[in-house]
Amino acid sequence: MCGNLACMRMLSGQLASRFLPSRPPEPQAQALLSPPSKSIYIGKTKFLHIPVFWDPAKLLNPHICVVGITGSGKSYFVKTFITRARLVFLANVLVLDWSGEYVDWVRASGGKVISFGKQGGINLLDLGGLSVHQKIKQVVQSLEILTDLSSFPSQKRITEEAIEKAYKRRGKKGAHPTLRDVYFILSRLKEEEAKEAAYRIKSLLLSSGDSFVVQSIRMEELFSGLVCVDLHSLPSENLRSLAGLAILQFVKEKMRLHAVQEKAIRLFVVCDEAWKIASDERSDVVAIVREGRKYGFSLIVASQNPTDVHRAIFASAGTVLAFRLTSASEREYLRTSLSYPDFFERQSNLLSLGQPLVHFEFSSPQPRHGTFILEKVEGEEPLISVYIRGDGMILEFEKEELLKKLISCGLSDKHAKLVLSEFSKHNYSLSAHQFALLLEKFGYGRAFVISVFRELGATEKEILSVFSSAKKGSQAVVFLGKKGG
Ligand SMILES: Nc1ncnc2c1ncn2[C@@H]1O[C@H](COP(=O)(O)OP(=O)(O)O)[C@@H](O)[C@H]1O
Ligand SMILES: [Mg+2]
Repeated sequence: MCGNLACMRMLSGQLASRFLPSRPPEPQAQALLSPPSKSIYIGKTKFLHIPVFWDPAKLLNPHICVVGITGSGKSYFVKTFITRARLVFLANVLVLDWSGEYVDWVRASGGKVISFGKQGGINLLDLGGLSVHQKIKQVVQSLEILTDLSSFPSQKRITEEAIEKAYKRRGKKGAHPTLRDVYFILSRLKEEEAKEAAYRIKSLLLSSGDSFVVQSIRMEELFSGLVCVDLHSLPSENLRSLAGLAILQFVKEKMRLHAVQEKAIRLFVVCDEAWKIASDERSDVVAIVREGRKYGFSLIVASQNPTDVHRAIFASAGTVLAFRLTSASEREYLRTSLSYPDFFERQSNLLSLGQPLVHFEFSSPQPRHGTFILEKVEGEEPLISVYIRGDGMILEFEKEELLKKLISCGLSDKHAKLVLSEFSKHNYSLSAHQFALLLEKFGYGRAFVISVFRELGATEKEILSVFSSAKKGSQAVVFLGKKGG
């Protein structure tokens, strides 16, 4: 019978248990491949290993929504993507950083970090080119998004009137009023609602210091290369969101000034873990998603939970990356929003670190569904060199290489990571004495510390000199800096 085909009867259950060779659910190669000069490489597909290029010209819009549990790879993807996007599109990048996790990376990539609250703030009532009427609407809308002001219409009206009065008073002197003026006006009114409204403004002023009163951040600075606004030192989620909203309002106005001819991208705006403002329809995140394409603005929103991202953003983003999600209800939200085949529902629970389910919404009809699994985000971290200097000793390592070396010397993973985070906390520079003390603080003995220095390549003479100068109080220097810098 060899070589002949024969028909046979088979029950459907038996058939279902058999492996039938079929094409894995991935878009066609032509849809994923694009010239590297116009697109961004992110990795290969899981099954057919097709290289995947993010090409805004092929997608419905340039907005990207990234979801997944903590530690699943969201920020790593954003950093990788932004690093390449700056080179390919020569675009500016504005990162609104809720938790301060982009600060080191932005500095190491040659960008600028503005620490909101510590270094500067904005006057919420600075008109920035808007009319008084528009500005009042914006400020009150932010308060509605972040507090329960909309449940108290008369308080809302009194607050609007007080802001208007503040503009009239200050306007005579040609200056912008501040929230302090508004508080002053409200606190002099007799009505109960005015007292409540005054209390609302007072608590905001007390918790934020001068952060929303003194205009020290020049808004134009936000559009020059790679800029990170670090919001993490503001004391509450509400204040971080208020700052984020105020900056986005400015970004939106700036965006509306110029439409672009081609599909060029001028600015990427990153909102990572900005769930409070990404979940509200009135927020400018939604306005940027709706109008961004024609102005050359791309929004990247990352969040742990897909349900925290408003459906208007989630369902209309041209690109969705879903890393591992452990909650069945969140996966269901994802499945219904993107309407992908059941196959992915089973797979999405099994995703590993850095492995996302990707959904591309193509601008022209495609023969295959735009959902697939990426084998892994193929990343790019800036190389950071580590120099250990002291009494004639100069040793150099790449940051990750040092981590591996410390572990191979016998440090636990936890301690090796703590050593590296200590370096980055101190602007990549510690003295050798501090380095040795740190190891001793973790419970490692002097003999062990000496053996670590030896493993790192220091000579006996140099080690001796480090410890003898430490005794004398002089400090050898362990210095971390940018490679080649
Ligand atoms: N694709 C990847 N390749 C290599 N390492 C990764 C990848 N994705 C994430 N990581 C590492 O995993 C850790 C957690 O990733 P991160 O992006 O910070 O998670 P999230 O933002 O989702 O909380 C980081 O140390 C990061 O360097
Ligand atoms: Mg993150």
